[in-house]
Amino acid sequence: MRIVLLGAPGCGKGTQGAHLAHDYRIPRLSTGDALRAAVAAKSVLGLRAKAAMDAGQLVSDEIVTGLVEERLAAADTANGFILDGFPRNESQARTLDAMLVHLGRAPIDHAVHLRVDEAELIERLQSRGRVEGRADDNVETIRSRLEVYRNQTQPLLDYYAQQHKLLSFEGVGDVLQIRNRLIEALGASRAESASI
Ligand code: AP5
Repeated sequence: MRIVLLGAPGCGKGTQGAHLAHDYRIPRLSTGDALRAAVAAKSVLGLRAKAAMDAGQLVSDEIVTGLVEERLAAADTANGFILDGFPRNESQARTLDAMLVHLGRAPIDHAVHLRVDEAELIERLQSRGRVEGRADDNVETIRSRLEVYRNQTQPLLDYYAQQHKLLSFEGVGDVLQIRNRLIEALGASRAESASI
C-alpha cells in the first residue's frame, strides 16, 4: 500500500500516519520530522531549511524531494510506505510520480485527506505549542502555515481526485475511531480493485 497523507497543519497526518504504518507494517516518512531532525543536528540541509520552517513557508522542492527520493530508494519501502507531509504542491506531486517510475516502484494507491476546521486546527497546534514547544506552533506561524496549505497544498485534492485516488475523511473526534474509518475504507478500496 502506497499512501500519501494530505491535510492542513494539525489535521492529524502524523497521528493517523503512525497508526497506519503500524497496522500495515510499512514505513512512514514524515518530511516535517526529517527536516526538524536536520535542523536539530545543525546539518547543512537543516541550516538551509530552518528559515522557511520558522516562517511557516515551504522548504525548497529541491531539498525535500532529495530527502524523499533517498528514503524511497531504501529496500524497506518496496512493499509500501506512507508519505506524511509530501507532496505539498503540484510540482512535488508530479516529481513523486516520476520518482516512483524511476525507482521501479508502483504508483501511489491512495491520497488520504483529513478534514478539520480551522478553529480546531489552531486550537490543537497552540495547545501542542504550549506542551511540547515546537518552534512553528505559535499563532503567527500557524496562520502562515494555514495560508500556505490553502494556496499550495489544497489544490492537490483535485490532482488526486482526478486520478480517482482521493479518500477524504472527517478528522475530528476520537483518534482510534478515525483510524478505524481509515482502515475500513482502505480495506474496502483494496478489495474493490482486486475484484476488477
Ligand atoms: P510538518 O511537520 O509536516 O507540519 P504540518 O503539516 O504543519 O503538520 P503537523 O505536524 O503540525 O500536523 P499533523 O497534520 O501531522 O497533525 P498531528 O498528528 O501532528 O511540516 C512542518 C514544516 O516543514 C512545514 O511548515 C514546512 O516548512 C516544512 N515541510 C514539511 N514538508 C514539506 C514539503 N513536502 N515541502 C516543503 N516544506 C515542507 O496532530 C497535531 C496535534 O493535534 C497533536 O498535538 C495531536 O496530538 C493532536 N491531534 C491529532 N488528532 C487529533 C484528534 N482527532 N483530536 C484531537 N487532537 C488531535
